[in-house]
Amino acid sequence: MIKVMFVCLGNICRSPMAEFILKDMVKKRGIASDFEIASSATSTEEWGNPIYSPAAKKLSQEGIAYTDRRAVQLKKSDYNKYDYIIAMEKRNIENIKHICGPDTDNKVSLLLSYAGRNDNIADPWYTGNFDITYDEILEGCEGFLTFCGY
Ligand code: 4NP
Repeated sequence: MIKVMFVCLGNICRSPMAEFILKDMVKKRGIASDFEIASSATSTEEWGNPIYSPAAKKLSQEGIAYTDRRAVQLKKSDYNKYDYIIAMEKRNIENIKHICGPDTDNKVSLLLSYAGRNDNIADPWYTGNFDITYDEILEGCEGFLTFCGY
């Protein structure tokens, strides 16, 4: 079982998009039972809020199933529970370490690093562009599955 926690600032745009995109990919490849996939925020800014509606709309347009989930903050105990704690942007990594402590097991990484890119996922909260964010998350998730040997 590969346990993955996606993390962004608010847990209403990028990390839930990544959660449901990867869930869709593993389902379509028939490997869903190999994975446990979740998402959370570094901040408490959006705690309890649903996926931001333009993000949900983009998932629907792409045929990606999602559930009516609510934003949660990353917990210190998540560090032990998950194998991969995958950040959407570099500043998330600092905040993940603030919550979880030092990354002694090398579990924390940047999503686009799996696509060979040292880049942040564009933040659609500010760009308003959910298409670019979707494409970048897809690129990162495909790279991640290749990294995992699928
Ligand atoms: P997310 O997007 O981190 O991708 O969920 C954001 C959501 C909310 C805020 C910033 C980014 N905010 O400042 O409230």
